[in-house]
Amino acid sequence: MQITVRQLNKRYPGGKYALRDIDLEIGGGMFGLLGPNGAGKTTLMRILVTLLKPSSGEVLVNGMDLQKYRREIRKLVGYLPQDFTTFSKLAVWEFLDYVAALSGVREKDIRRDKVDRLLEDVGLFDVRDRRAGKLSGGMKRRLGIAQTLIGDPRIMVVDEPTVGLDPEERLRFRNLVADLSRQDIIIILSTHIVGDISSTCSNVALLNAGKIVFNGSPDELVAAAAGHVWTISALDHELDQLRERYPVISSVPMEHGYQLRVVAEQVTGRAADPADPNLEDAYICFMQSLGYGADVDAGNGGW
Ligand SMILES: Nc1ncnc2c1ncn2[C@@H]1O[C@H](COP(=O)(O)OP(=O)(O)OP(=O)(O)O)[C@@H](O)[C@H]1O
Ligand SMILES: [Mg+2]
Repeated sequence: MQITVRQLNKRYPGGKYALRDIDLEIGGGMFGLLGPNGAGKTTLMRILVTLLKPSSGEVLVNGMDLQKYRREIRKLVGYLPQDFTTFSKLAVWEFLDYVAALSGVREKDIRRDKVDRLLEDVGLFDVRDRRAGKLSGGMKRRLGIAQTLIGDPRIMVVDEPTVGLDPEERLRFRNLVADLSRQDIIIILSTHIVGDISSTCSNVALLNAGKIVFNGSPDELVAAAAGHVWTISALDHELDQLRERYPVISSVPMEHGYQLRVVAEQVTGRAADPADPNLEDAYICFMQSLGYGADVDAGNGGW
């Protein structure tokens, strides 16, 4: 599977550009699309699943032009929208059975087998008789994944699936998606939580204000931040001043004052030790060097 995006632009009517000159190659495995609110993640994903037309540019799926082969490509795609939730009164299994029937699986027995297998896969078999609308947030999200899997998609597009989940469910969800990942399918996962993409994605793109500001492996992203992360020992009264001066990634209370981890080209006028960057540091470096400020959500204690 291969998706090629060339010079893609999207401008909403009357609005500014939500996507600007996007070039991407997405191959098999898991692809992480990382970016803050309003970066354009949902816009890009909706274009890839043929729900939204680009203003200009080209998307090829296995060489097929997305505009020309919409129907064919749609059959390859499973999409879990950002706002997926269900208030369905149907039982969990009935809900999936219904979706399977809608997607053209006519034989009742085949549907039943399929539904049971999917329920097993996403860890919902034990609650198969519960009302779909009564599931917890994490369970609903997993039901959403089961639903996207019904058509055996070759391309899965999952938009911010971990928002609002508690850490345990987030981890479970992450593992579930990682388990689905294979070289012959593409899973595109968007998130603004760095920890969501750390271990599982072979490639990531950083999107900010409609532009790709980085595209490569997580290791390459980390490597790009080398030399830009420092630790500083600070006394209590120095804290505010340092926070103003440098984007602070973390501050750990010490016996006397704090140990700060900061992003900077260079720290001047005081002692600082270079630190080995991790993925979160690298993300902040990229956002920072682009002058978008440190409004970075690294996840609720995921790191
Ligand atoms: N239907 C629309 N009409 C006009 N502008 C829109 C529309 N949808 C999105 N936008 C704008 O396009 C930009 C990108 O939005 P998009 O929803 O793609 O970002 P996102 O990365 O998914 O953000 P979030 O993390 O909040 O989901 C934003 O500036 C947004 O306000
Ligand atoms: Mg979005």
